Amino acid sequence: MIKLNTDHAFLNEDIASYQGQVNELHDAIMNKTAKGNDFLGWVDWCNNYDKDEFARIKKDAAYVRENCEVYLVCGIGGSYLGARAAIEMINGLYGKDKYKPEIIFCGNTFSSTYTKQVLDYIADKEVMINVISKSGTTTETSLAFRLFKQFIEKKYGKDEAKKRIIATTDGTKGTLFDLATKEGYTKYVIPNDIGGRFSVITPVGLLPIAVAGIDIDALMQGVTDAFNDFDTADLSKNPAYAYAVARRILQNQGKNVEMFITYDLQTTMLAEWWKQLFGESEGKNGKGIFPAAGTFSTDLHSMGQFVQDGLKIVFETLVLFKNPTEDVIFPEDADNLDNMNYLAGKSLDWVNKMAMQGTLEAHEVEGNVPNLLIEVEDMSSHSFGYLVYFFFRAVAMSVLMLDENPFDQPGVEVYKKNMFRLLGKK
Ligand code: PA5
Repeated sequence: MIKLNTDHAFLNEDIASYQGQVNELHDAIMNKTAKGNDFLGWVDWCNNYDKDEFARIKKDAAYVRENCEVYLVCGIGGSYLGARAAIEMINGLYGKDKYKPEIIFCGNTFSSTYTKQVLDYIADKEVMINVISKSGTTTETSLAFRLFKQFIEKKYGKDEAKKRIIATTDGTKGTLFDLATKEGYTKYVIPNDIGGRFSVITPVGLLPIAVAGIDIDALMQGVTDAFNDFDTADLSKNPAYAYAVARRILQNQGKNVEMFITYDLQTTMLAEWWKQLFGESEGKNGKGIFPAAGTFSTDLHSMGQFVQDGLKIVFETLVLFKNPTEDVIFPEDADNLDNMNYLAGKSLDWVNKMAMQGTLEAHEVEGNVPNLLIEVEDMSSHSFGYLVYFFFRAVAMSVLMLDENPFDQPGVEVYKKNMFRLLGKK
């Protein structure tokens, strides 16, 4: 399902020489004894998830799809990025009518302009909201939720508001859990042992994804298939671990920046999701590879110069979706005033792939920028599930190889401390 090229000259250490370390860490992941083992619930979640809750997601998603024009998804970080990545990758960016309701993300910013503009935009629309927070106390999310909750209560009255607000949070405790229980909202549970950035395969991601009309059975099948395929420590058979090792080998050469590259604009948020997964998991105690991203060929016209010619600290992880969701044949033009007839009859996907091949060669051969190529079948929900699980296993292995805990994010607390002091929070 996923192919990774590892037979490159730039991998100047033998991947197989890491097999011993990988064997040990694989056992620690599977036995749930690895560093941060309280948060290894995602590993076998595809076997353990609550099937009744999964059925309820599908039922509630159908209700939402019938009863609102705008579905607000209120959350930040892991409580936001996965759903958005999936919806944009699978449905595309302009499927508003086809994939109704329109999904708008909020609670991921303090921006007054953004928040007020969303409030204005939804003023005369039928609205429902899904507030998502594992801790139940994240300030960006709580602030936005109060504003949108009051908007909904004012518009529909308290009783109807109860049917229009869904809370996804801890199963037994926390401010949001208490609020949702008191108000009588429909609740979904974020499992204790799955951290935010691994939660797209739980109700955190699945409910908004189902509301977008996406097949979540296929998505979970993708996760299950990946779980089965990666159930081996053998580096010649497990591309997720081979990718983790290749990253470490490249960093040993001074490649401290990894650019996640795709050639499809609807995967830009997938890159944002990946950046969070790797950035929050790996950037610890002065270690880690800095995760960056580019959507080519778009960003070749902004970042291409640096990648080709700048400081040699970059390697690229190129995720190639083999089959496009849509394609267009470039037309002939009798006048050919734009001199573009040389492409007449060719498909846009072919053009995109030629741009990819040309860039790959330019960066690797002339630019000395190594590329790890990850080939994925398509941008379907099954492939999305498979791909996110691939990266889960890869990031866990990568970070454990650095002897760090992949599942915490202590560094994020520092800005909060200062912000709360300035905001006068007791
Ligand atoms: O990966 C993580 O744990 C974080 O990015 C969280 O998802 C993010 O901070 C949001 O937290 P919460 O769901 O508690 O509001």
